[in-house]
Amino acid sequence: MKLSSLAVLIVTAAYASGYPLSQWRKRDVDPAIVPDFGFESGVNPTGTGDCDGAPGTNVKIPCFCPPPRDVMLKALNENIAAGHCVNNTVVSFDFPTDNSIQSEISRINGVLVTLQNLRGPGVGCPAASTTLNARRTGNCDGAIPGGPKIPCQCPPPRDEFISQLQDNAVAGKAVHNPDVKVDFPLDDSVASKKARIIASLITIQNLRGPGVGCPAVSTTLSQQLEALG
Ligand SMILES: *[C@@H]1O[C@H](CO)[C@@H](O)[C@H](O)[C@H]1NC(C)=O
Repeated sequence: MKLSSLAVLIVTAAYASGYPLSQWRKRDVDPAIVPDFGFESGVNPTGTGDCDGAPGTNVKIPCFCPPPRDVMLKALNENIAAGHCVNNTVVSFDFPTDNSIQSEISRINGVLVTLQNLRGPGVGCPAASTTLNARRTGNCDGAIPGGPKIPCQCPPPRDEFISQLQDNAVAGKAVHNPDVKVDFPLDDSVASKKARIIASLITIQNLRGPGVGCPAVSTTLSQQLEALG
């Protein structure tokens, strides 16, 4: 195939998919989907170059950490373009752009790897110069005030949840935990409303694997179930 017809094909495909052409030309990732540090540099300097780390980390960090966001973004784009961490080539680099929890975690990892290798292999800013670790592993407030803490990526985006719920309803079981039956009746009876809440709870708790998902307390579903008697 001639190059020119290949170009036409690509442009046509981009047009047909409704994807803005300007986005195809622009190589840089959309900053809006790049997780925020959640912390600023320079808190409580000791006078010897150390400052406080992000809340909850309880460690000192270099006062220049985290760097300005644009410095990180520039390095991040270089790492994405290379497919590995430029300053630490053994670390591969994946920066998916979709809405799923898994992809959000990959993006958090991408920002942390970029920070940690900003000045050379293993030389950069520690994870403690951000709140990203807590967001990845989970230490956010649950749906019940004063109740148990939950992973910060929970509950999942509603579209991810709905899509999984649909899969489970169609299969009649949790597709990621097939021993668990899922029933999703559509009528207006109390029993059916309860069944739908239970199906939602099963779905959310088995979102990514058997028992791997978001806890019930990342929602008010249990209370809604109780309220139905
Ligand atoms: C790699 O390290 C150099 C300094 O050694 C720095 O100038 C550059 O921005 C870093 N690149 C990335 C992608 O982190």
